[in-house]
Amino acid sequence: MHFMQTLLTPVLLFLSSIATGCWLSHKVRPLNPILLTVHKLLALAGAVTLALLLRNLFRQVDFSIAILIVCGLAAAAVVALFITGALLSRPDGASPAVLRIHTIATGLLVISLIMMGGSLFRSRIGIL
Ligand code: HEM
Repeated sequence: MHFMQTLLTPVLLFLSSIATGCWLSHKVRPLNPILLTVHKLLALAGAVTLALLLRNLFRQVDFSIAILIVCGLAAAAVVALFITGALLSRPDGASPAVLRIHTIATGLLVISLIMMGGSLFRSRIGIL
């Protein structure tokens, strides 16, 4: 399958996670448990599909240092999202700083996915 099609699955899952996250933030506490579970599962599915995609890519292609740094940024953003997400999921919530880190990590993830897609597309990896 073409690389860009494979990248579409984690991208769509992360976009759905962002949409449910924004929806969650506009609700008053206690948070809707179904919406929160959907948000977490979409995030988990996005992280797993992204990890599988990168594992397949690493096996087939020699990455430039720039792409490796972008992959590292995406991984750091996902780890930060899960840690801050766990803190925000507590019944009494977390400080505004934690929500800000969750939002900034979301931005970092989006930017690194765009850069990853862009650089891999430019290096014409159409082999997956
Ligand atoms: C790829 C992973 C994730 C993305 C992209 C993501 C994205 C978002 C976004 C954009 C928001 C709205 C933030 C705002 O209004 O400024 C949000 C809210 C939230 N997220 Fe996530 N999230 C992710 C993972 C998680 C995980 C794993 C958890 C739980 C373990 C979680 C728990 C929450 C909670 C509880 C809120 C509501 C916070 C509040 O308004 O008090 N998120 N998320």
